[in-house]
Amino acid sequence: MPIAPRVGICHHHDRSSFFITLLNKVTPFFLEYPMIKNPASTNTISANKILITGGAGFLGSHLTEKLLSTDNDVLVVDNFYTGSKQNIAHLLGNSRLEVMRHDVTFPLYVEVNQIYNLACPASPVHYQYDPVQTTKTSVHGAINMLGLAKRTRARILQASTSEVYGDPEVHPQPESYWGRVNPIGIRSCYDEGKRCAETLFFDYHRQHQLDIKVVRIFNTYGPRMHPNDGRVVSNFIVQALQGKDITIYGDGQQTRSFCYVDDLIDAMVKMMNSETGFTGPVNTGNPDEFTMLQLAETILRLSNSKSKLVFAPLPSDDPKQRQPDITLAKAKLGWEPKVNLEDGLKETIAYFKALLANT
Ligand SMILES: NC(=O)c1ccc[n+]([C@@H]2O[C@H](COP(=O)([O-])OP(=O)(O)OC[C@H]3O[C@@H](n4cnc5c(N)ncnc54)[C@H](O)[C@@H]3O)[C@@H](O)[C@H]2O)c1
Repeated sequence: MPIAPRVGICHHHDRSSFFITLLNKVTPFFLEYPMIKNPASTNTISANKILITGGAGFLGSHLTEKLLSTDNDVLVVDNFYTGSKQNIAHLLGNSRLEVMRHDVTFPLYVEVNQIYNLACPASPVHYQYDPVQTTKTSVHGAINMLGLAKRTRARILQASTSEVYGDPEVHPQPESYWGRVNPIGIRSCYDEGKRCAETLFFDYHRQHQLDIKVVRIFNTYGPRMHPNDGRVVSNFIVQALQGKDITIYGDGQQTRSFCYVDDLIDAMVKMMNSETGFTGPVNTGNPDEFTMLQLAETILRLSNSKSKLVFAPLPSDDPKQRQPDITLAKAKLGWEPKVNLEDGLKETIAYFKALLANT
C-alpha cells in the first residue's frame, strides 16, 4: 500500500491510517532536513571569510584569536613545521574556525575574501634548518597565495619583515630604504625569500590589479613564541627561568626594538582594512630601542632570576642595529604601539613559566 505523502493529512480512521500517522511521526529528521548542504551553498562565502596561512604559529594564533573574536569565519592553513595545534587548541571549539593541514608550497583551492599570508618559519634556527624549504615557502607560497587571491579576487596581506633591510646603513629604517642584504649568506634563504615575495606581491598588483597589503614586521614577542627558537626574548626568558647562564652575543651593545604581540596584531588588522589602493609596504614595530644588555637585565629583574650573563661571539650576518621608522603607519593606519617593554615582558614571562611547569 503506497504511503501517503508525509506532509499530507490522513482523514481515514482505520488501522492503516494509524500506521501512516505513526510513520510520519517517526520519519527521520534528516528527510526533512538533509544532513548535507546544497553544494552551491558551500561555495557562497560570507562577507568575511578569512584565510590565515601559518595560523598555528606564534603570530598566526594571536591573529586567529583576534579575528574570531570579531565574528569572522577563519580558515587556518598550516603544515605545523614550527607552529602547533596547542597554540590554537583553545579556539578549536569555535564553529567559525576551520583548520587545514597544508603546505603553502602547493596550490590551494578554497573560497575566501581575505588572505593573511604568514606561513614561514621566522626564527634563524628554524629557517636555517632547511634553507631550501624556507625559500620555497616564501616564494612558492607567495605565488600560490597570490594565485588564490587572483582567482577569488581576495584582498591579500603579506607578513614581510624588517630583514628585507638586511644590515642597514640607514637608521631608523623608513620604507623607502632598499636595504643591504647579503644574497649568499646563511640568512639569505629568509631575507631574499621575503624580498622576492614582496616583488611578487607588487608584480601581481601591477600586472593583475590585485588588492595587496604588505607589512614589514620588526621583532615581535609575546606568549606562544616557540621556547627553542633561539630568538633573543624567548632565549633570555627561558634561560632566566631555568637559572641557566644568559648568553649575550657580542658585547651586548647591539640594539633591537621589541613590539608586543597584541600591538602587532592590531597593526596587521588595521593594515588589512586600510583604504583601497594603500599597498604599503608599511613598517610595523615598536621604535623604542634597547641594547641586548638592557633586555637581559630587565628580564633577570622581572623573573627574579639569579642567572649570570655570559658572552659568546656574534653570529655571521647579525645586524648591529634595527629600529623601525613608523611615521607611515601612524599617518595611514592611525597606529602606534601601546604596550611598553616591561608590561609585555611580564605577560611573556608568565606564559613561559606556565609552559615550563607543564613540561
Ligand atoms: N615574530 C616576529 O618577530 C616576526 C618578524 C618579522 C616577520 N615575521 C613574519 O611573520 C610570520 C609569522 O611569524 P611567527 O613569528 O609567527 O613564526 P612561526 O614560526 O611561529 O609561525 C610560522 C607558521 O608558519 C607555518 N609554516 C611554515 N612553513 C609552512 C609551509 N610551507 N606551509 C604551511 N605552513 C607553514 C609554521 O608551522 C608556523 O605555524 C612569518 O612569515 C614571519 O616571517 C615575524
